Amino acid sequence: MLAIDLTGKRALVAGVSDDGGFGFAIAKALAEAGATICVGSWPPALGIFTKLLERGKMDESMRLGDGRKLEFERIYPLDAAFDTLDDAPEDIRENKRYKDVGDFSVSGMTERIRRDFGETGLDIVVHSLANGPEVKSPLVDTSRRGYLAAVSVSAYSNISLVRHLGPLMRPGGVFLSLTYLAAERVIPGYGGGMSSAKAALEADTRTLAYEAGRRWGVRINAISAGPWASRAATAIGFIDTMIAYAAANAPLPRPIDAADVGHTAAFLCSPLASAITGSVVYVDNGFHAMGMAVGSRNDGTTER
Ligand SMILES: NC(=O)c1ccc[n+]([C@@H]2O[C@H](COP(=O)([O-])OP(=O)(O)OC[C@H]3O[C@@H](n4cnc5c(N)ncnc54)[C@H](O)[C@@H]3O)[C@@H](O)[C@H]2O)c1
Repeated sequence: MLAIDLTGKRALVAGVSDDGGFGFAIAKALAEAGATICVGSWPPALGIFTKLLERGKMDESMRLGDGRKLEFERIYPLDAAFDTLDDAPEDIRENKRYKDVGDFSVSGMTERIRRDFGETGLDIVVHSLANGPEVKSPLVDTSRRGYLAAVSVSAYSNISLVRHLGPLMRPGGVFLSLTYLAAERVIPGYGGGMSSAKAALEADTRTLAYEAGRRWGVRINAISAGPWASRAATAIGFIDTMIAYAAANAPLPRPIDAADVGHTAAFLCSPLASAITGSVVYVDNGFHAMGMAVGSRNDGTTER
């Protein structure tokens, strides 16, 4: 039987701090397929995340299909806005959520991974993080600072992960990130430069696939996911409307589940996808293919 088998592979999923987002669903799917999982967690959310884990509050969602429990081999503090600790301003370094976690920069996390697992200890890296401080502002009203912050955390961070972790990847290594339709179509309300960040992330997926493919032999893809009520998406403020609209208008008229994204990620990270790189793969029940809302035809007919 053709199976997704990631036995013996180690994955780092950057952007997990609860059990409600795509990062967690991807971690779970990769573990179901046999991979061991490390996560990168944003320092402001790290304390609550580890408490939830210690107190068993996530035990239910950590149960895998075969009865095993999802285990995190390591939880690394990671603020993907910074390539080195020196890049972080003093007020961040001295902040109570940051000051005791060690080097939380991308290079700091890279060093820890090297120390923990040697020069080539990784097979899969998933970038599942984003932040736009002005996401509620229309693009036209977004400040330069807000725009650059969105692009820095949500897009440049992926380049930084590839550059730092590329040398640690074993043969057949894979990078994956999460993008959204706002990169290529107008999604009113998805502001603050987040649409620009996703457009950059997708363009970078192609260029990095070429550059890092030639340099380290790795594959680089992105999943363009349909709307899902994660913590980050809920903070934008109208995720339920987006989910209902997508479900009503997609070719497959239902909401997506985070597991849909997890399963596609497991496939893309597996040897079954060994010739797929530089691609943006839609996991959105086909919503991206539509050019008109269902039921909006002016001849009076209603689609089902
Ligand atoms: N939820 C959706 O509807 C949707 C749709 C398409 C794409 N996506 C993308 O999926 C990815 C995961 O998001 P999610 O919706 O599952 O939400 P989520 O809240 O589970 O994940 C976002 C993560 O980013 C982390 N983060 C924020 N700033 C960070 C920083 N500076 N450094 C490190 N980590 C940081 C947060 O702590 C959180 O763990 C994001 O790239 C998001 O844009 C989400």
